[in-house]
Amino acid sequence: MAQDTKSANTSGYTFVDHKFDVVVVGAGGAGLRATLGMAEQGLRTACITKVFPTRSHTVAAQGGIAASLSNMGPDSWQWHMYDTVKGSDWLGDVDAMEYLVREAPAAVYELEHYGVPFSRTEEGKIYQRPFGGHMMNYGDGPPVQRTCAAADRTGHAILHTLYGQSLKNNAQFFIEYFALDLIMEPDGTCTGVVAWNLDDGTIRRFSAKMVVLATGGYGRAYFSATSAHTCTGDGGGMAARAGFPLQDMEFVQFHPTGIYGAGCLITEGARGEGGYLVNSEGERFMERYAPSAKDLASRDVVSRCMTLEIREGRGVGKAKDHIFLHLDHLDPAVLHERLPGISESAKIFAGVDLTKEPIPVLPTVHYNMGGVPTNYWGEVLNPTADNPDRVSPGLMAVGEAGCASVHGANRLGSNSLIDLVVFGRAAAIRAGQVIDRKAAIPSPNQASVDKIMDRFDRLRHANGSTPTAVLREKMQKAMQEDAAVFRTQESLESGCKRISEIWTELKDVKVFDRSMIWNSDLVETLELENLMANAITTVYGAEARKESRGAHAREDFSARDDANWRKHTLAHLSEDGTVTLTYRPVHTEPLLAEKDGGISLAKIAPKARVY
Ligand code: FUM
Repeated sequence: MAQDTKSANTSGYTFVDHKFDVVVVGAGGAGLRATLGMAEQGLRTACITKVFPTRSHTVAAQGGIAASLSNMGPDSWQWHMYDTVKGSDWLGDVDAMEYLVREAPAAVYELEHYGVPFSRTEEGKIYQRPFGGHMMNYGDGPPVQRTCAAADRTGHAILHTLYGQSLKNNAQFFIEYFALDLIMEPDGTCTGVVAWNLDDGTIRRFSAKMVVLATGGYGRAYFSATSAHTCTGDGGGMAARAGFPLQDMEFVQFHPTGIYGAGCLITEGARGEGGYLVNSEGERFMERYAPSAKDLASRDVVSRCMTLEIREGRGVGKAKDHIFLHLDHLDPAVLHERLPGISESAKIFAGVDLTKEPIPVLPTVHYNMGGVPTNYWGEVLNPTADNPDRVSPGLMAVGEAGCASVHGANRLGSNSLIDLVVFGRAAAIRAGQVIDRKAAIPSPNQASVDKIMDRFDRLRHANGSTPTAVLREKMQKAMQEDAAVFRTQESLESGCKRISEIWTELKDVKVFDRSMIWNSDLVETLELENLMANAITTVYGAEARKESRGAHAREDFSARDDANWRKHTLAHLSEDGTVTLTYRPVHTEPLLAEKDGGISLAKIAPKARVY
């Protein structure tokens, strides 16, 4: 299928060339769903991934995937849309959010038919549990059971199914290949990607009519994250180096229940099944902050309340620096059936038998709302002042790497897995429409390839005085301390200064291993550069945004300011680490008119966000 040829280049590296209609970078939920959708249409499709597909971070997604199936009580896409708009703190693009929630049920049934082993109700329907911020009756409540689950291993189940289906449809996988950079034409068209085969040390030039970035988030820019160590924002790094802005990077989600110390996720599904948080006084404090949704308020809200409790001296443990999550009142049979994974995690990482004791938890970095800007088909945007929705040819971004923007300033739990499959699928539908199957696959632009290899070679031979791990830890500590749950002008200015200094120090990095085969020192250095592109755009975007919205909570600007700040940040990064900020408008128009069954504009108009 792929046409492989070998050629030498000026920088001394030998290339193996591959040609495909589509190259997907990343094999998590979004990457695999896009790969499958492309391959099903007969497009010659490659999927490049730095880890084995079923080890991608989606495997760690626990609680479930949101879709208004109404299996456990009344629900509708309009209620789901209202909750998503409100959850986003009115920063999400309304057209993209509507596309997400309307397509969600069909996307879940497709997964079921592909073979995802969902948990079942007594009648054999897909089991659904409550999750934070998902309510009945346009937010009035009570919580709705909308999150479809395969016990607490939903991501695992989805990933395995999608990988099997992709193989069945003849997608070609390039496993343990590290994508270095995008091959770009001078006019801004993307025509491929250069990747390094870690196993045999060869450099591969993948030429394609469409490249899809599905590389996940950049949680590892922080010291404590639920994200895998592989979540290094590689797509954001590649896009920024290719001249694309990154959107809304200041919005970083802290999940309320990371295991204290280890950072591993304890699913929100635990609270969906009846778990609750208590402080050192044994108080269920969420009742005070969110009288209606309580422990099932939106994640940003719960994380802030936990942080306030700790700050005010009501944290638990010797240092009073965390909170307890109780599940010990629940029937052990329910825990065994619905939450087997976290029962195991609590034992391994906290030494706790959750049928008898509470789990020590702390808000932990979990998700990046920002990413490479796209429309709701996954097409990457390179906005201009005249055209904020300008599509850039040849490039798509889906999943956590992209920013469609369906999550705005804060994502609702279980809206991530549905984002992956709905937009992976949308990208495939769109690619089927825009790819000219008869056209020749473009040849790689050698000037672009040379630039990519010069950077690779520079890092491979980097001979400064600071090991990669030292710089990485400095970055992680700076992000953890200065771009945290609560932010101030002072903390954010400090964050900008510290991250900019580390950007300069990157010139002094030392790579010890010069080999081409499984050189993990070089991989981590390439990843660090990607993390830094994400980190620096995060702190500069946050410093500039003088309001509080969703996950961006400023103590010095505590209110949301729609008049001045209901807009998307675009962070443009130069090679020297300068970040220039511009803005683009939020899409406020739904796809369907109210008279045609759509949601009324009045319903989703901005208002105070209370749970
Ligand atoms: O809590 C969880 O199970 C995480 C779900 C999500 O981030 O959507």
